[in-house]
Amino acid sequence: MPILLSSSILSADFGHLADQIQMAETGGVDWIHVDVMDGHFVPHITMGDFIVETCHRLTGLPLDVHLMVEKPERQLESFARAGAQNISVHYETCPNLYHTLQVIRELGCHPGVVINPGTAAENIAPVLHLVDIVLVMTVNPGASGQKFIPQSLPKIQKVKKMLEESNLTAIIEVDGGITADTLPGVYQAGARAIVAATSIFKHPDGIFAGIQQLRASVSD
Ligand code: DX5
Ligand code: ZN
Repeated sequence: MPILLSSSILSADFGHLADQIQMAETGGVDWIHVDVMDGHFVPHITMGDFIVETCHRLTGLPLDVHLMVEKPERQLESFARAGAQNISVHYETCPNLYHTLQVIRELGCHPGVVINPGTAAENIAPVLHLVDIVLVMTVNPGASGQKFIPQSLPKIQKVKKMLEESNLTAIIEVDGGITADTLPGVYQAGARAIVAATSIFKHPDGIFAGIQQLRASVSD
């Protein structure tokens, strides 16, 4: 299965958001990743359903919404209405995780569960059958441009094993510090969707070059 590239607009130039998304689409990314931060679960405040709705008007690409917010269950309906295809919520923010994932499905979106670098894979075993995406954070959530945490690799392998043992087909997505250097390792470990902000939108040779380098790193 080829790799799905989810380009995070967190590193896009918001003065030219339409052009930047258009270029990512032309360059061949698969999803647009929207990093929603609330200033509580993580220190920064970024964007909300309004930006998702804007992206929905700007592109036909699926919108991959990553909620780094406390009490995400209060926001699900508005993000679904704004046009999200995937809604991923953090294990660490959801006391009623099972129910939250069920609600995302009922809203017609693909549910994803996210685990932070300090959270063991075993914690999400009881909800794996409810999700289409397991998003393994490969940096601490909160900002783009951070360094990949190599200890994530055995965790990705563990999630892969857990899914296989239960005959589940959820896709493993990784987020943070993904470059042409770190992508081969996460791919080998079992990730099939990767989020990239800096290595696409801030590539020194431009968005197309960034996308091409990522793809070339896993093509044999
Ligand atoms: C981090 C966000 C990421 C971020 C990735 O909290 O969830 O999606 O944009 O940025 P890079 O690709 O620069 O590590
Ligand atoms: Zn993200």
